[in-house]
Amino acid sequence: MPGTCIIGLQWGDEAKGKIVDLFTREHDIVVRYQGGANAGHTVVVGGEVYKLSLLPSGVLTPGVTCVIAGGVVMNPAKAIEELDELAARKVQDFDNLLLSDRLHVIFPWHFAEDRAMDRNTSDGENIGTTGRGIGPCYRDKVGRSYAVRLGDMYRDTFPDQVRHIVTEKNRVLASMLPAEEFKPLDADAILREYRAYAERLQPYVTDTTEFLLTAAEKGKRILFEGAQGALLDVDHGTYPFVTSSNSSGVGISNGSGVPGKYIKLVMGVVKAYSTRVGGGPFPTEQDNAIGQRIRDQGNEYGTVTKRPRRCGWLDAVAVRYTARLSGVDSICIMLLDVLSGFDELKICTAYEIDGQRTTVFPSHVDEIRKVKPIYETLAGWQEDLTGARSMEDLPVAAHEYLDRISQLLNLPVELVSVGPDRAQTIPVLAGSSLSV
Ligand code: GDP
Ligand code: IMO
Ligand code: MG
Repeated sequence: MPGTCIIGLQWGDEAKGKIVDLFTREHDIVVRYQGGANAGHTVVVGGEVYKLSLLPSGVLTPGVTCVIAGGVVMNPAKAIEELDELAARKVQDFDNLLLSDRLHVIFPWHFAEDRAMDRNTSDGENIGTTGRGIGPCYRDKVGRSYAVRLGDMYRDTFPDQVRHIVTEKNRVLASMLPAEEFKPLDADAILREYRAYAERLQPYVTDTTEFLLTAAEKGKRILFEGAQGALLDVDHGTYPFVTSSNSSGVGISNGSGVPGKYIKLVMGVVKAYSTRVGGGPFPTEQDNAIGQRIRDQGNEYGTVTKRPRRCGWLDAVAVRYTARLSGVDSICIMLLDVLSGFDELKICTAYEIDGQRTTVFPSHVDEIRKVKPIYETLAGWQEDLTGARSMEDLPVAAHEYLDRISQLLNLPVELVSVGPDRAQTIPVLAGSSLSV
């Protein structure tokens, strides 16, 4: 069974980091394959909190090889900052990190473009990006003329490449930004900064596609760590309010270079309710006291940007769609403890659009904006769940809530999470390989 994948099925922040950390010990390799430092994955080990944006959440398990594959867009300063932080906290020595020479590098012009573009969306609502230069870097990757891959930074042509790009980007930024905000980029300063990054990261840079293909052929156990959530997928999500990569299960092969035949298990990570950061439609949003209560109880503030997350009820229409899209085999239901204390809970089981009932997730943002959610109401529970360690510890109403989710998605529940710590996890699926 070489390949296991962890995919968020909502709009990100489903607690993928916790799941990756839990399953890492059963794998030889953990791979980040899309996105970049827009991700913020939290792992809590023995009360110590680690927040990872670029390094795979597997870094907290010694002996596992961590790979940042070619589909990632990397801010080298951020990678170095995370390496330094983990070294300072004496987690482990990083002779087991591999960075793809194919991955695209984020430069200062990408941050400037990200800030400038986000206030210029044509339909009036901002995407509300994380400001990490992700979209502009992917745009340059696809455009090809102004892109830099990590492997380029070790070539004699790198200085000329940067000078050429800076000339063009200064022209573009001057036209995008108000005159008082435009500060011309200095190619020599950027070169000095990025040469230092290149030198520092050189020991880790390699052809990770070849490494992963060989590992898969040898039957090594590879864990693929999805970033963002499937509803933010650039092709299949709530476009244009999405990120710029394939964050659903369809992105695993193109981001890592490992073909689908090696992927044997896909686990979908689902919050027991819904959250979204940034703009875009959110059919089950509770922009009211219920949403505020979920935000308070779940501490729903962004890991990366600290923005308050928008909160709402679980949307089974959306999650059923993303689970099918991602080829999910089982689901992990996270943050169940956050729902304690509600008299009743709601799950959206169908949509009404223009008076028509449907369970199909619409492809166009205008239709998603029109959705009136059709809810099913279930009994809530009052008990604190954070100490529960087996299904017997959960109240009947929590069992009924979990059963209904499983039924609506037509998928088995792999585990239930009742707190951030590794120990606050309840294995559910008979024969689950999870040994917490
Ligand atoms: P990711 O981006 O999908 O890895 O998720 P984030 O780390 O951005 O957000 C998930 C947050 O929920 C983190 O602060 C986790 O420590 C926390 N968390 C994870 N599982 C649970 C849980 O079962 N209950 C509670 N209350 N918090 C959890
Ligand atoms: P993790 O991996 C939640 C959202 C942003 C914005 C949109 C586009 O922690 O789940 P981008 O900077 O990617 O161009 O922003 O996507 N977004 C996330 N929301 N969790 C994330 O990552 C996210 N990464 C991006 O808020 O709405
Ligand atoms: Mg996150």
